Amino acid sequence: MARIPDAFIDDLLARTDIVEIVNARVPLKRQGKEYAARCPFHDERSASFTVSPAKQFYHCFGCGAHGTAISFLMNYDRLEFLDAVDELAKRVGMEVPRDTQQRNQDSGTRDLYAAMEAAAQFFRRQLAASDKARAYVAGRDISPEIVERYGIGYAPDGYGALRDALGTDQRRMQLLERGGMFSKNDKGAVYDKFRDRLMFPIHDRRGRTIAFGGRVIDTPSESRASSPKYLNSPETPLFHKGRELYGLWQAKQANAKLERLVVVEGYMDVVALAQFGVTQAVATLGTATTPDHAELLFRNAPDVYFCFDGDRAGRAAAWKALESVLPRMREGRQAFFLFLPDGEDPDTIVRQEGAGGFDARLRDATPLSEFFYAQMQADVNLGTLDGKARLAERCKPYLAQIPDGAFGDLMKQRLTELTGLGARASTPETHVPAHRVHRGGRGAPAPRRSLVRGAIALLLQHPQLALALEPPYTFAALRQPGVPLLAELVALVRERPDIRTGGILEHFGEREEAAALQKLAMQSIPGEEAAWQHEFRDAMAQLERQTWQQRIDELQEKQRASGLDPRDKEELRALLGNLSTR
Ligand code: UTP
Ligand code: MN
Repeated sequence: MARIPDAFIDDLLARTDIVEIVNARVPLKRQGKEYAARCPFHDERSASFTVSPAKQFYHCFGCGAHGTAISFLMNYDRLEFLDAVDELAKRVGMEVPRDTQQRNQDSGTRDLYAAMEAAAQFFRRQLAASDKARAYVAGRDISPEIVERYGIGYAPDGYGALRDALGTDQRRMQLLERGGMFSKNDKGAVYDKFRDRLMFPIHDRRGRTIAFGGRVIDTPSESRASSPKYLNSPETPLFHKGRELYGLWQAKQANAKLERLVVVEGYMDVVALAQFGVTQAVATLGTATTPDHAELLFRNAPDVYFCFDGDRAGRAAAWKALESVLPRMREGRQAFFLFLPDGEDPDTIVRQEGAGGFDARLRDATPLSEFFYAQMQADVNLGTLDGKARLAERCKPYLAQIPDGAFGDLMKQRLTELTGLGARASTPETHVPAHRVHRGGRGAPAPRRSLVRGAIALLLQHPQLALALEPPYTFAALRQPGVPLLAELVALVRERPDIRTGGILEHFGEREEAAALQKLAMQSIPGEEAAWQHEFRDAMAQLERQTWQQRIDELQEKQRASGLDPRDKEELRALLGNLSTR
């Protein structure tokens, strides 16, 4: 992906009126310095969604959704990052920086998309022309509408059907090769990768063909033991299988608002479910569910159902999926697991039971929490103290990954119920005291907090305070919770002097600290700019003194243990002097 300089993003966000962007899609009401509305990302009756022009970000007190104008467009208009940036840049008349190399790459990429699209069209024509392939489609009872909607095609037998039809010059051959459409033999001869297969084009989030999956068409007489049932495109510049979901484009087309996504294992499952009216199914492409998948799923729908075989392998795959979603279980998101009877898959089930039957199974699906504790307890005897302790130990690292919020609280509560042992999953560094939220633009009164946390909160809300600091940053050596984070914030702001609250939160993205930072950013700190400056300077000065004291303690410890060399003595004298003069 093209890398856009951070400074450009900061400038873009500074020139963009986030209120205008949001208001054009979700009408806002002014409330003091901020704006409010009913949250567009979850169902609610009250207006928990606020937009702060000063902090350049939006935040929902209800579901925790938050971000900058860029993330708003990504989430609301479902744009990719680069497209959201383009969109905003266009509005304020800025040109997104792309160097010449990038520009050439852009046009090369466009041609690559075109080549993949041409291949997809070629396969579609071949399906229409092949009796054998059409018979297979009919035999599996795939309707013509579904063939059309999913762009299903046929790659003819032989070694050069695609190559001869589309690889008409060297440039085109190159493009098809880059798109993963060819294989090469030992002698370097290039031939079609997909032969005599039913072809499922894989679309990206804008509906462009980026890869294919091909299924052998086995008529009993010519079953080929050597070739895999499904063949997928290799990784290419357009296609990273750990980041794509088959059928997501069609699901988004079929549903104005996706309330749920159903993750299944196969292409045939997705198309059969769609044919019978379950239009929210997507498939991972012969891989386990990756964290990227989890992110993509939840970015598109609040409820995600994972469908697996009921066997051992299915349970293992489900656990992998669980591990990927756990750190993403923010407020308002839910995950469920559905295990199918032996020998069945969603394709066979929906054909036997219809959409109604399949939906009923979804309604009965196992919630994440239940699946989690069932797996965790598998070989633990809860009748014994040791067993309880073991369960608590085992759960701890997982629970710690869940973002702060109701779901995490309930998960911890469940563990307490099972073991009688409380799980202290949030450490003092990241724990943010709960506070009542006052709506109406006043925000929440800032709770009492440690020096470090106070400084972090101030910096988050008024990043430019950091510009008054000069390196070297003495405080960074202080061994206290939160100090590394504070130091990182200071460095970030000094590197990107135009950055604002929204940009900082974006910088931390999915990192562990993000949730705590987001809460701190929401507090409104009373008073005027001069007061904040004063408070910040004061906090930093105190931290500096604590750092000196820490070093003094160290040196004195050493003095007692082994004595000080002349340089140590000099340092100690200077530090003691510092402390007494300031
Ligand atoms: P399955 O073997 O369960 O096939 O593979 P299926 O989806 O039921 O397909 P049909 O009904 O036999 O046509 C599930 C998924 O695993 C991947 C594919 O993505 C497939 O859709 N797979 C399977 C491969 O990548 N390669 C294979 O050889 C087999
Ligand atoms: Mn199947």
